Amino acid sequence: MIKAAILGYGTVGSGVYEVIKKNKDIITGRLGDALQVKYVLDLRPFEGDPVQEVLVHDVDIIMNDPEVAIVCETMGGEHPAYEFTRRALECGKSVCTSNKELVEKHGPELIQIAKEHKCSYLFEASVGGGIPIIRPLRTSLAQEEVLSITGILNGTTNYILTKMETEGLAFESVLARAQEKGYAEKNPDADILGFDACRKIAILTSLAYGKKVDFEDISTEGITAITDVDFAYAKKMGATIKLFAKSVKKGDKYYALVAPFIVKPENPLYAVKGVFNAILVNCNMGGETMYYGKGAGKLATASAVVADVLDCARHIGKHLDIRWEDEKLAISPIDGAVRKFFVRVSSTDEAQIQDVFGAVEMFAGVADGECGFVTEEMTEAEYRDKAAKFGSVLSMIRVD
Ligand code: HSE
Repeated sequence: MIKAAILGYGTVGSGVYEVIKKNKDIITGRLGDALQVKYVLDLRPFEGDPVQEVLVHDVDIIMNDPEVAIVCETMGGEHPAYEFTRRALECGKSVCTSNKELVEKHGPELIQIAKEHKCSYLFEASVGGGIPIIRPLRTSLAQEEVLSITGILNGTTNYILTKMETEGLAFESVLARAQEKGYAEKNPDADILGFDACRKIAILTSLAYGKKVDFEDISTEGITAITDVDFAYAKKMGATIKLFAKSVKKGDKYYALVAPFIVKPENPLYAVKGVFNAILVNCNMGGETMYYGKGAGKLATASAVVADVLDCARHIGKHLDIRWEDEKLAISPIDGAVRKFFVRVSSTDEAQIQDVFGAVEMFAGVADGECGFVTEEMTEAEYRDKAAKFGSVLSMIRVD
């Protein structure tokens, strides 16, 4: 019998409890041994909930019980999750987590502690909820050079953009509706400003290249400036708009960016609608692979935590290594990144536009007193200079 404990009986923690209970027979069959949740730690009493049978309020009970081999950290936040995780690993208990903030801030250090104590620190659920992406990067793609990762890594923003596209609504009204229905947080800033996607691409990029990517080094734009007029232009182009979290290796340079992009139907990420997430990974040998599913939600996220629990259960007393050094990966300023740009200007003078931006593909007649165009490829720095020279730029969206 493998014994586990869950720290935090919130949305994900209660999901982990449910997945282990409901899929008990499947798990026993696959493991060749039973998996039991011996303790659930939470300060709340949960009166009348069957979880009370295993509920404890004192973390020492879990840390001091040598029978507990695996701990699921589903508390979220940095403290006390960090201290509890350290303690569990130092006791030789593997930790499986959904806590993206902790993984992003302390991943390399916690992996090292796990290594020293012959246990593991696994975090499949920290990026993309129920989508297997950490394990593919760690195992299936271990032989590859990763050339780029492009992700729709935030369900809230993908839901908002999808609704803006399909219903022709303005950003604010879709956000208000999403909040009413509980799809978007009361304070949605981390989602709509791109910070959530930024932390997630920082983790994926760190794993792809084995070094620490600081999320503060990643240029991040959210979706708050995207309007229904932008979608009208996108429609005219036969395209849509998505919030992409991207990292690219070009020679010996690494670029990373979170920003809205104009996306054409040829891109497999075009079809990712609503709250769904997807990650497209391009490698030097196998080419493109894509990972798709629910990026959040109780059972999807919990299922990914339990996948890690099973991995740890099969390797008790061993360390499952994840290459992620504390050394920083140098992310180059995006000035040197090359791409096309979709630009809206308060002018319809094509000759003047071409004079500054060079050859462009024009999109006129979408809104009064302005036009839109797509440039040829140029660097971000070149685009910025041209936009400053032209002077009446209303908005710009990068083209994927
Ligand atoms: N708020 C996130 C999203 C889920 O909307 O995708 C948690 O990472």
